[in-house]
Amino acid sequence: MLIQTSLSLCTLRPWHSGDQEDLVNHANNRKVWRNLTDRFPHPYTNADAQNWLCIANEASRNHHLAIAYVGKAIGGVGAIAGEGIAQQTAQFGYWLGEAYWGKGIASAATSSFLAYLEALGEFSRLEAPVFAWNPVSMRILEKLGFKREGVLRKSVSKDGELIDSVMYAYIISPSLSKTASELKPEKF
Ligand SMILES: CC(C)(COP(=O)(O)OP(=O)(O)OC[C@H]1O[C@@H](n2cnc3c(N)ncnc32)[C@H](O)[C@@H]1OP(=O)(O)O)[C@@H](O)C(=O)NCCC(=O)NCCS
Repeated sequence: MLIQTSLSLCTLRPWHSGDQEDLVNHANNRKVWRNLTDRFPHPYTNADAQNWLCIANEASRNHHLAIAYVGKAIGGVGAIAGEGIAQQTAQFGYWLGEAYWGKGIASAATSSFLAYLEALGEFSRLEAPVFAWNPVSMRILEKLGFKREGVLRKSVSKDGELIDSVMYAYIISPSLSKTASELKPEKF
């Protein structure tokens, strides 16, 4: 399974065992960790990468894909499925290695991932709570059509600070999900 993005050299694909070294190189970065939940470790070790490469391809309702540049993993996108009353909601997340920031790659990758999730039709709502100090991520979500729903005051303890986060969400129309079976990623 390979998803082409609007950038010719940038694709989305499943994570695989050969990604370990690239994953550690790009993920072991405080500037990346600082904008993500604490499920994303720091420092990011080989053991963390091995663990992630198992989790990413586990059978579950979650979807995790690598952002690849000329085939090499440089970041990730993911949708983590809610449970119970939130089963039709997913947490929409993404990160990119710092060497690739500022080139439109996250915008292209998230746009393709959003289209993929829309076609799958498994979720009605995608949520992305963004830390208040991360305007770049807010810009990406606004370009995707996510709506700013409100400020969650003092909701995040990160890097020694208690800060606000901003809830962005996107509602998926059921009519977009016709090709779900064709788009299910192969696990390997
Ligand atoms: C957030 C992240 C994915 C952005 O990746 P990227 O590839 O550099 O982003 P893009 O180049 O696609 O887009 C950045 C956008 O933000 C804009 N931008 C840059 N600095 C900005 C600022 N200070 N304020 C507002 N917008 C800003 C850019 O102009 C661009 O918008 P444009 O296309 O309208 O010009 C990357 O910085 C990252 O991985 N950060 C750490 C993890 C993270 O924050 N994940 C998201 C958690 S919610």
